[in-house]
Amino acid sequence: VTNRYQAVRGMNDFMPADTAIWQAVERELLACLAGYGYREIRMPLVERSHLFARSLGDTSDVVGKEMYSFEDRADREGKAESLSLRPEGTASCVRAVIESGMLRNGPQRLWYAGPMFRRERPQKGRYRQFHQFGVEAFGIGTPDVDIELIQLCATFWQRLGVADSLRLELNSLGSNAAREQYREILVIYFSGCRDQLDENSLRRLDENPLRILDSKNPDLADIIANAPRLDEHLDAESAEHFAAVRAGLDHLGIAYTLNPRLVRGLDYYNRTVFEWKTDRLGAQDAVCSGGRYDGLVAELGGQDTPASGFALGMERLLALLDDDFTAQAETAATPHVYLIIGNESLRNAAATTAEQIRDKMRALRLLAHCGGGSFKAQFKRADRSGAQLAVILGDDEAEQGSLTLKPLRGQGEQQTLPIEAALTEIARLVDLQQS
Ligand code: HAM
Repeated sequence: VTNRYQAVRGMNDFMPADTAIWQAVERELLACLAGYGYREIRMPLVERSHLFARSLGDTSDVVGKEMYSFEDRADREGKAESLSLRPEGTASCVRAVIESGMLRNGPQRLWYAGPMFRRERPQKGRYRQFHQFGVEAFGIGTPDVDIELIQLCATFWQRLGVADSLRLELNSLGSNAAREQYREILVIYFSGCRDQLDENSLRRLDENPLRILDSKNPDLADIIANAPRLDEHLDAESAEHFAAVRAGLDHLGIAYTLNPRLVRGLDYYNRTVFEWKTDRLGAQDAVCSGGRYDGLVAELGGQDTPASGFALGMERLLALLDDDFTAQAETAATPHVYLIIGNESLRNAAATTAEQIRDKMRALRLLAHCGGGSFKAQFKRADRSGAQLAVILGDDEAEQGSLTLKPLRGQGEQQTLPIEAALTEIARLVDLQQS
């Protein structure tokens, strides 16, 4: 018999063992973001399709081939609209900050997290529903915020213990005008070797020749290596901006390599672009990517506002974590205490006791036994739960107003204590700081 109901291809469930790790990573990321003064914004998962077409570009792969779009039902006025599941967060974030008017209050540092949807071919590290943490800074055109964003990434990697698995690649796309000129130079160059280009590159030659530089086809490696370089065609202001970004990173001791072929797959970028890559995930090597997009706010109808940001792929980041981190994350999701209940008649008293203990120690994780059964059966459950301590409420304890504590992982003897003393002893036995 086959299972008739399966998750949609490329869309994953995350089980409690996984979510324990996700939450541990999210806690670290949230702490870093707060430390840098970034505040959370939440946007809908669905937007009008043309928001993405306008921001990411009609000819980008994401808009051209990968969007989950559908025609909404006609509303009362009879208009049906095309809506899409968001393939990324920047476009929605820009729409939201324009719509809310918050840019009038000066620079804004924001972050968001959640699922994104792209109909790509699923493989290791590439999913159709994946999860990003995105960070966007609005209203700051100077290199300092580009540096800050990259420094924030470096702090993430340090705190998560994955810094050794990631390297930073950096490029500048220059101003829109300079890139337009460069684009023409590229068209002339690649047109000269048209017969050597593959189908994909021929299409890009018309639509977005910069993306040919991004091609993974080894047959094109030589042609691409010899192509005119963007960094030789930067406008003076962008070159100065880029030099300042590099100097800032040098000052902070953040290592990077310059990759003149790093062009990014979305249309909104200008000036600084970057990618944190790993050698540990095969072809899906980009863990975190971003850059400056000074034109997008105005493009979407807002006041001309410089902006810069990045997004990291959670699935790819999680694949880099070491065993220490994941073991610790699992511990943080394991109960400290398992409450064992002598018999059915004590059920209500046990519920009160459980609440009393939880109320006294807000960080304590207490699993109260449910479903009846013998002491032996309950101890087995207690053991399997991973708890450090069993707290037993039997007839004697109920009568005396006491509790029995039994360490389950071999630290110390079983003891019966009056309830107040028992609470203090639980707090002593269970190290709430450590786990
Ligand atoms: P992106 O490069 O398209 O940029 O995606 C950012 C990150 O999301 C990638 O580096 C990768 O880790 C992850 N990612 C992308 N597609 C998939 C997939 N199919 N499966 C798993 N992970 C994936 C953006 O989305 C921009 N909005 C980033 C940005 C923010 N730029 C400025 N601000």
